[in-house]
This record gives sequence, C-alpha cells and structure tokens, in this order.
Amino acid sequence: MDLRSDAAAAADLIADAGEVTIVSHIDADGICSEAILSLALGRAGIPVRPVFVRQLEPMTMGAIPKDRSFKLFTDLGSGQQNLLVEHGLPEDRVLILDHHVGQPVEGHKYREVNALSYGCEKLSASGIAYLVARELGEENGDLARLAVIGNVGDMMARTDLGLIGPAREIAEDGVRHGTVEVVKKDLNCFGISTRPVHLCLAYSDDPFIPGITGNPNGALQFLQRLGVTLKHPSGRWLAWEEVPQEDKRRVISALAQQLLSHGRAPDRLLAEAYLFPRETVKPLRNASEFATVLNACGRWAKPTVGSHICKGDRGIHYREAERMLTHHRGMIRDLLQFILEKGVTELSHLQHIHVGDRFPDTIIGIGAGMALSKLNRNKPILIMAGMMEDPLVTKVSMRTNEEMVQRGTDLQQAIVEATAEVGGSGGGHRIAAGAYVPKELEERFIHCVNRRLEGQDARAGQGHR
Ligand code: C5P
Repeated sequence: MDLRSDAAAAADLIADAGEVTIVSHIDADGICSEAILSLALGRAGIPVRPVFVRQLEPMTMGAIPKDRSFKLFTDLGSGQQNLLVEHGLPEDRVLILDHHVGQPVEGHKYREVNALSYGCEKLSASGIAYLVARELGEENGDLARLAVIGNVGDMMARTDLGLIGPAREIAEDGVRHGTVEVVKKDLNCFGISTRPVHLCLAYSDDPFIPGITGNPNGALQFLQRLGVTLKHPSGRWLAWEEVPQEDKRRVISALAQQLLSHGRAPDRLLAEAYLFPRETVKPLRNASEFATVLNACGRWAKPTVGSHICKGDRGIHYREAERMLTHHRGMIRDLLQFILEKGVTELSHLQHIHVGDRFPDTIIGIGAGMALSKLNRNKPILIMAGMMEDPLVTKVSMRTNEEMVQRGTDLQQAIVEATAEVGGSGGGHRIAAGAYVPKELEERFIHCVNRRLEGQDARAGQGHR
C-alpha cells in the first residue's frame, strides 16, 4: 500500500464512522490536524467532537469519552497504543493519523496511517490529515494551507530549507487553490512578516552571522550602513516582508559577504517561505508565525482558541490568542535566560537542567531547543520540570540538532528505553522527544538516558565527545 491509497482507505473508514471524536495534540501540528478534519467532516455532515490533550498518558486518558463514537487520534497515538488498549478502545472504532515513532502492542492492531511507515520523515500529522481530507472531497483542497502551517510548525521545513516530498506537494495544492504563496528564496529568519528587520536578523541563528546574531545593535548598524529603507514614513519599523525588493537584494548580498568574510558558508541564508496572500491579520500571513500563535494557544491550555483561528475566527478568539502570544514570548524569553544563567550540568553524552516549578511543563521543550544553539552543540539537552497536576511526576523534554541526528543520535529511542527501565512513558522523534517519569527516579532516569546515548554514539563509531 502507498500513502495515497492508505489515506483514501482512512477517508472511507471515517466517512462510514457516524459520530467522530478527534483526539489531538495541543501543538500547532495537532491543532491544524484537528481543524482540517473537523472542517472536512463538518462539510461531509459528520458530527465531530474535538478533544485536545497535551500528550496521551495515564493522567489525560480520562478526557477520552468511553462512548461509541469513532476515535480519530491525530498527531499522537502511534506511540501510546498500550494506553488505547487499557482504555478499552476496540480496534474497529479507532484510527491513528500520526508521524511519531510507533510502539505497537502485541495482540492488538489499531489501524493507522503513519508518515514514517512510508519513509516520510518530513511529513507531519496535519499533512496526513490533509491527505485524508482531500480524499473525503475535492472541496477540501483549501485546507492545504492548514497542513502547511502544521508542517512548518513541526520544523518539517527546517533541515532542507523548505518542505519536501508529500509536504511540498501539499504546499503546491495550496498554491493551486490560491491560498498559499511559496517564496522560493527568502531570508531564513523567524518573524519576516512582523518583526523589525534588525530584530529579525539578530534573533536568528541559522546561520550564525558574526556581528549580527544575538546583537540587535550590531544588526541595526549593519543595515544602516547599507542605507536601506528600515522605517515606514509614519516612523514605524518595517518588517522584512515590506522592505523594497531592491533593498532586500542588497541586504542578502551583504549578509552573504559578511558570512564569507568570516569563513562561513552562506548556504543557509535563504529558505523557502510560505505566505498566505489572502490573510488580513499580519502574524497569520506567514506559516511559521501562524504556527507560533497556535503553539502559544495550545501550550497555555487554550488549544480550542487556536482551532477557532484555524477555522477562520479573526475576532474574539484571535484577540485572546494575541494576548497569549505576548505572554508565551515573555515566558520563553525568561526560560531561555534562566537556562543560560543557571547553566546546565554536563554528563558524558548529554547536558541537563531542572527548572522546578518555575515554568509550565508544556513549554520547557521549546526553551531547551532554543537554548541548545547557545550551549554545547555536541550534546543533546535534557530539561525537567515538575508537573503541577501531580507532584509525583516529572516532565522531561529532550532536544538535539540535525548534526547529532546525522551522527546517530536518536532521542526517541533513548527515552523509550530509559522509561522502560525506570518507569513512566515517553516518545517522540529522533530530534525531539519527551517523557513523564516518577519524580523520585529523576537522577536515575538522566543517567539511564546518558548511557543509552553513549551506546548510540559507540554504535555510530564516534566514541566519547
Ligand atoms: O513535550 P515536548 O515538546 O518535549 O515533546 C517533544 C516530542 O515528544 C513531541 O513530538 C511529543 O509528542 C513527544 N512526546 C511523547 N511522549 C511524551 C512527551 C512527549 O511522545 N510523554
């Protein structure tokens, strides 16, 4: 079977399901997956009830109704099939659309469409949700835009500087429908639709540009020396998107020169950007900024606000999301500062830090990912936080980078093996994974993960770093 025909079979299954409960993850990809399928099923006249969970784990399973509705799991489920069995969900009333590494349960076989089964490492759950929605009806082609947001939000475009494979085809569907614009070579920075250009450059570290990355004043002086237009006649700063084309060219070539003069390759300076020309609200004109708005909603326990925005709300829900975004950004900034100021403890194969109950467990992974580029880039970071709902449980998030993954690091495997040894549950991807572990076994867990990473390193023939 191939992805397309499996998506078609999944669409048939849902179309015949009667009432559907969509159980989805609270991040941008999970929210987009839910929105795509809720809209598509709504158009087909199938009643849908969404349920968002921060993860499938024993504490959150109670949110899944024990009724006869068909359970559609999106952006989670593949790695937690044991919990579905324990919850008493029958195989013929469940479908999983996911892209996380699976953990099947012997004697049970839930139907699933998982991107990894087709060798697609760069296709997220909302991409699969879209492929299924498109099989439900041609009219769902307009939902490609949401799949682009979910894929970009899940970093599917990061490594290759653009979406590839089926995710790329989905973006092209969006172009055909007039809802997506693909800008082939744009500045590889976050915030090109909203941030003042010097801040956009200073906050970006892929590539690291000496004199500019992490240095807003340096970035501003660099741009002023080029004499490019940085402000609107009204006095407000222009976003990169608004800078005149000729000025953009001058900035890009000067940045390339800056990299070359420091012996650095300019090959990651430009990336593909995904814009939404019909969008009226600025931060939502750009896939990565839209995804950040959704992440802010989800991580602050308001995924349904994000879902409303995906479904078109630009009023009351959008205003609430704006407030959450401001709060989210402030918290992430504080978390990053906390990690860098407190410092991490380095073991042979990882670096770790515990933030206690200062920050919510739902955002620690984001902060850890951002901190990694400022710490030792050769060791994954493991971050822990206490869980407000259960003082006996600790949330763990791990992040690594593409270079380490290329060298054989697999966080999902390390975490799954360590939870099997210590207790708790975990999963994710090679590059980003998480777990819930017993608080009293935190130290043992850290050392267990370190040993697993050491094993991976040894197998990859790298030895100690
Ligand atoms: O929570 P965090 O952002 O660190 O999650 C990183 C990745 O690990 C996500 O893809 C998430 O779905 C996955 N994860 C998991 N099981 C957990 C925690 C996180 O599969 N218990």
